[in-house]
Amino acid sequence: MSGHDTPIPMSAGKSGPLLGEAHVPGDKSISHRSLILGALSVGETKITGLLEGEDVLDTGKAMQAFGAEVINHGGGSWSVHGVGVGGFAEPDQVIDCGNSGTGVRLIMGAMATSPIAATFTGDASLNGRPMGRITDPLALFGAASYGRSMGRLPLTIIGAENPVPVHYTTPVPSAQVKSAVLLAGLNAPGETIVIEKEATRDHSERMLAGFGAKITSEDTDEGRVITLTGQPELKPQVITVPRDPSSAAFPVCAALIVEGSDVLVPNIGLNPTRAGLYYTLQDMGANLTFENMREEGGEPMADLRAKYSPNLKGIEVPPERAASMIDEYPILSVVASFAEGVTKMHGVKELRVKESDRIDAMATGLRLAGVTVDEGEDWWHVHGLSGDVPGGATCESHLDHRIAMSFLILGMAAQNPVAVDDGSPIATSFPIFEDLMSNLGATIVRTTA
Ligand code: S3P
Repeated sequence: MSGHDTPIPMSAGKSGPLLGEAHVPGDKSISHRSLILGALSVGETKITGLLEGEDVLDTGKAMQAFGAEVINHGGGSWSVHGVGVGGFAEPDQVIDCGNSGTGVRLIMGAMATSPIAATFTGDASLNGRPMGRITDPLALFGAASYGRSMGRLPLTIIGAENPVPVHYTTPVPSAQVKSAVLLAGLNAPGETIVIEKEATRDHSERMLAGFGAKITSEDTDEGRVITLTGQPELKPQVITVPRDPSSAAFPVCAALIVEGSDVLVPNIGLNPTRAGLYYTLQDMGANLTFENMREEGGEPMADLRAKYSPNLKGIEVPPERAASMIDEYPILSVVASFAEGVTKMHGVKELRVKESDRIDAMATGLRLAGVTVDEGEDWWHVHGLSGDVPGGATCESHLDHRIAMSFLILGMAAQNPVAVDDGSPIATSFPIFEDLMSNLGATIVRTTA
């Protein structure tokens, strides 16, 4: 789907204590990868707990366009009948990835080493995002690409007829870039090597190994070196998608700032490449505990218990933690607004090229709500108001689900309601957000434009 034709204005107001359990949807990163790797395997991959948000559904449609069969059995249960590595057919329509950078970037990688052409597009947000970071390494495999200026979508990729493996150091800390190169490397003979100076989320590596690819990861002085042997036969898997720690962040952070709250968010993966927010909140003095710590499918898991935390302190977030919490800075900035003192966030240039420029989007809305924010190209500081945030603003969501949800959470704890011009992007990653937050006790409504 391309863009949201009808904006959904929404507003959230001071909310009673948030109480109860919040069952958040499946992990977005793992859901995309389950569909794509399922499509690249021979046979039937069974998936339960798939995130049925627009981003992931768009990836499912794309996999069908490349020749896989994707079946929805209902209730989050899906299966994918794959075509195997190198088995993608040429799609006969443009591939529309909607709002999803992960979807389009991983799929471009997956098709770039097959002798087929495909044209990709998305909504206004996605079509403004940089794709040169993907097409540059894909060119090294032998794929050609023709897009708009600065490599933006709509963009056509002509896959390599005789792909060669590559040795690539990612120029930015990005799991999407790393994953695109690894997926392209699947259909190149020999070893494809990706080096990342800062480790980013490692779901692709873990899942490729699970599907039977030969892949190793080694931490060296140069950074993390990932070596994939091309042209494996991927074996279909039975996948239970864990719940998304990035979605869990919203009810957790809401509970910390709404007076009297006590919320349990069960079954959240705490993969170290994803869990940075939770350690940061604990460093700020949040009453946040990990209950029932365990390991499932090789990943640390816990039930998160978050309670109202009136004594939050602003801190300097360690920049080396940025990759492990990159999607959580918008909601962290909301929590920081309620803390005492300044929260300093540095080394976060990537926030400027997400679904929106997230530093600009949050800084603008927070200022309207009475919070002082300083910013530079790769940093921002939020001056906390020790619990007394005026609110009373209408903020722009910029087609960005996490911006919309962050401002609505702000409204639940601020003195006056906070509105967003368009809550429709929330459906890309967290379609049950309104119901889930209302059931906990939040005051959240759709308003008329
Ligand atoms: C993702 C990687 C991150 C993240 C995005 C999901 C992934 O993007 O922001 O929401 O699933 O690989 P970058 O690779 O651009 O950092």
